[in-house]
Amino acid sequence: MKALILAGGVGTRLRPLSCTRPKSLFPIVNKPLLQWTFERLAKHGISDVILAVNYQTEAAIKQHRIPKYGIHTTYSRDPLKKPLGTGGPIKKTEKQIGHSEPFLVLNGDIFSDVNYTELLKTHNEKEAIATIALHCVEDPSRYGVAELMQNGRISRFIEKPPRESAQSNLINAGTYVLSPGIFEYIPKGQQVSIERDVFPKLAEEKALYGYVYGGLWIDIGKPEDYLQINETLLDSFAYRQENKTGRNSVVREPVAFDTGVSIGEKSVIGPYVILGRNVAVGNNVHIQHSVILPGTSISDSSSIDGAILGDSVIIGEKAKIAKKCILGDHVKIRDNVTLAEGVSICPAKEVTESVFTRGNIC
Ligand code: GDD
Ligand code: MG
Repeated sequence: MKALILAGGVGTRLRPLSCTRPKSLFPIVNKPLLQWTFERLAKHGISDVILAVNYQTEAAIKQHRIPKYGIHTTYSRDPLKKPLGTGGPIKKTEKQIGHSEPFLVLNGDIFSDVNYTELLKTHNEKEAIATIALHCVEDPSRYGVAELMQNGRISRFIEKPPRESAQSNLINAGTYVLSPGIFEYIPKGQQVSIERDVFPKLAEEKALYGYVYGGLWIDIGKPEDYLQINETLLDSFAYRQENKTGRNSVVREPVAFDTGVSIGEKSVIGPYVILGRNVAVGNNVHIQHSVILPGTSISDSSSIDGAILGDSVIIGEKAKIAKKCILGDHVKIRDNVTLAEGVSICPAKEVTESVFTRGNIC
């Protein structure tokens, strides 16, 4: 089976970190999301992947050189300044995918362990044009919502309905098997939303089916969800730490440290802390519930709680970074600066004074 990964979205809700990397390259426990996806695809025997990208995401993904586990990979680029949405890229790859067999489509910002083989099996058992992996969530209003019948057919599909009018808690997990017949439903060269323009029509024509799936699933598109999946994985695996930790420092598990991490004396790191490659932590530093990307350095007596710090950030001495703060790549926080809850700092910005109200600093 071939697979198409949609990876050309803008990632607005993950700004400022998504200003400098596509969602598919966000590290999840120090490994890019796309790498986790390739690993899973390879396990299910997928040999060909097409990445549906735009100019920026293509450049970033190529530069990253992530392992592909033997999967043959090609790129299909949306036209410049004309994003094709979630449906247009499928039509664009019609020739590459061909008409011989069903294929897999994945949203590139999903972390999950959906069983692709089972999904394909369900698809092949029905007269389906599309079979959607469905996942149960508490608030379905941020997603595509499906009404599922006993025989596995989806009778109605509504993208992002108001919470009170959502008819079910089963949502589109951003993972589908499509039959080549899908190409007839998508006009060529246009921006098309498969969720708004195609799935409702397929439901009406009784050609849309669901595969309910109860495992691990998260769309990393929002900062709290991004932190959540990192914490969930820290809970699920035992990560061994081999780093230089100074005298009297305490590491509270679970944590994950990449290579080259150093920690000074009398610091308390964890629980739920992920430190990327070469992160340098000084003396008497407190960090918990946070993800820190590679190359960042944190000076003495600073504290970080519930935040995401980008690549190569510099945190001065005695700085305090509160919950829900997001610092873009190369941000510099001067000594003694406090950032209150929910402050976001644009890439490469230097912050010289404390910020006591939530919001963006650019
Ligand atoms: N190539 C390309 N071009 N890719 C795109 C474009 C585009 O114009 N727009 C979005 N994508 C990619 C994004 O990068 C992402 O991987 C995927 O398509 C879905 O787009 P999102 O913007 O993340 O959509 P969403 O999260 O609001 O909703 C979608 O995902 C939900 C599950 O997380 C929908 O499919 C929902 O129905 C679904 O429940
Ligand atoms: Mg999404």
